[in-house]
Amino acid sequence: MSSSAQSPRSPKSPKSPTGKATSPAPATSPAPAAAPAPLSAEAQGAAGILPATHWTEQPLPEEDVDDGASSLGSINSTTASLSSTIFHYREVQGRTYHAEIGSAESWTPNDQRHVDAMELLHHAMMVQLGGKLFLSPLEQKKIQKVLDIATGGGLWAIDFADEFPNAEVIGTDVTPIQPSWVPPNVKFEIEDCNQEWTWPEDTFDFINLRLLTGIVSDWDALFRNAYRVTKPGGYVESYGTGAHFMSDDGSVKDGSALEQWGKVFREGGKKLGRTFTVYEEDLQRKGMEAAGFVDIEFRDIQVPYGGWHHDKEIAERGIWWKMAIESDLEGWVHYIWNAVLGWTPNEAKAFTRHVKRDMNDPNIHSYIMARVVWGRKPE
Ligand SMILES: C[S@@+](CC[C@H](N)C(=O)[O-])C[C@H]1O[C@@H](n2cnc3c(N)ncnc32)[C@H](O)[C@@H]1O
Repeated sequence: MSSSAQSPRSPKSPKSPTGKATSPAPATSPAPAAAPAPLSAEAQGAAGILPATHWTEQPLPEEDVDDGASSLGSINSTTASLSSTIFHYREVQGRTYHAEIGSAESWTPNDQRHVDAMELLHHAMMVQLGGKLFLSPLEQKKIQKVLDIATGGGLWAIDFADEFPNAEVIGTDVTPIQPSWVPPNVKFEIEDCNQEWTWPEDTFDFINLRLLTGIVSDWDALFRNAYRVTKPGGYVESYGTGAHFMSDDGSVKDGSALEQWGKVFREGGKKLGRTFTVYEEDLQRKGMEAAGFVDIEFRDIQVPYGGWHHDKEIAERGIWWKMAIESDLEGWVHYIWNAVLGWTPNEAKAFTRHVKRDMNDPNIHSYIMARVVWGRKPE
C-alpha cells in the first residue's frame, strides 16, 4: 500500500546542512505503540535462549560501547512543523522507529545514527559484490525504470541513478530517512512492501531488494508483487542474509553471545512474523520460482566478521561488515531484544557488550552466510 492516501506521495526528507536526511523530532502524537509481550521464560528456554541474568552476572568486558541512548543527531527545526503521520516516530529505549504505516513494523531505528550505519552498510554490500551494485545481466540501454524496495538511506538508488543516468530510479521505504539532494533521476516514496504494490503491471526493467531480512511478512507475496510490476524481460534481484553466526573451527561456542545472537533473531522473526532466516530457508529463490521468474541464478557469499580470513578479498568483506554493524550495534540489537525477550536497557546493554567482546576476539572466526538471487520475467 502506498502512503499516498494518508500522506504526501514523495515526502521531502528533512535536510541537514550536509544535505543528509536527519531525523525530525518525534511528534507528540499518536501514542507510542504498546510494548510487545515478550516470550515467556519457558519459551525462551525451549528456544535455547539464556536468561538475561546470565549476561548481567558475568564480569562485563571493558565499557567501550555507548549505552544506545538517544543519538538523534542534529534535529532540523524546519521539520518539526510537518504534520504528516509519517513523521510520527515512536521511541523505544531512547531510539526512534518509524510510525506504523499499514502493517509495517520496522526493527531498525530511523535516527541519524542508524542512517549513518546504513551508509557504511551500503559500502560493505558493494565490497561483497566486488564493487558492483547488482549481479543481474542488465543491458544499459534497455534500463529505463528501476525500483529499489526498502531503500533505507537510499544510497543504492542514488549510485544506480549515477551509473544509469537515463533511467528513472524510485526508492521506497516506510520511513522518510532518504536525503533530498539527489540526482534528478531519483525519487523516494513511502510504501509498505508487505502490502499490495501500487504500480501498474509491467512497469519496471529492474527491481532491487537488498537486506529485507526481518521486514517481509510473506516472501512469496513479495515476489508475486515484484513479478506483476516487472516488465517482460526485466530482472529482479534480491540479497538476503542468514541470522546465525557460524564458524568452521568451533570458535563460535554454544552459549556464547555470538551464538545466542542468531537464536534471538530467529525467535524475533517468528514473533514479528518477519523472518530473519532468509538464507537458511532459501526464501528468495523459492519465492522467485513460485512467482514465475526464469533463468534464476544465485551466488552465496561468506561474510566473515572482521578481517580474520586468510583470503584478502574475503577479509575485506569482513572488515567493512564489522564496521557497519559496530557503528550502531545497539541499533541492530536492542529492538529485537526488547520486543522478543522483554529485557531492560541494562540487560540488553550487558548482552551487547558481551557480543562486542566476541566480535573483537581474534580467536573467534565467525561468519554469516548471504545469498544474492536474480531472475528474469519471461517475455
Ligand atoms: C536494513 S535496511 C536496508 C536498506 C537498503 N535496502 C540497503 O540495502 O542499504 C531495511 C530498511 O527497510 C525499511 N522497512 C522496514 N519495513 C518495511 C516495509 N514494510 N516496507 C518498506 N520498507 C521497510 C526500514 O525502514 C529500513 O530502511
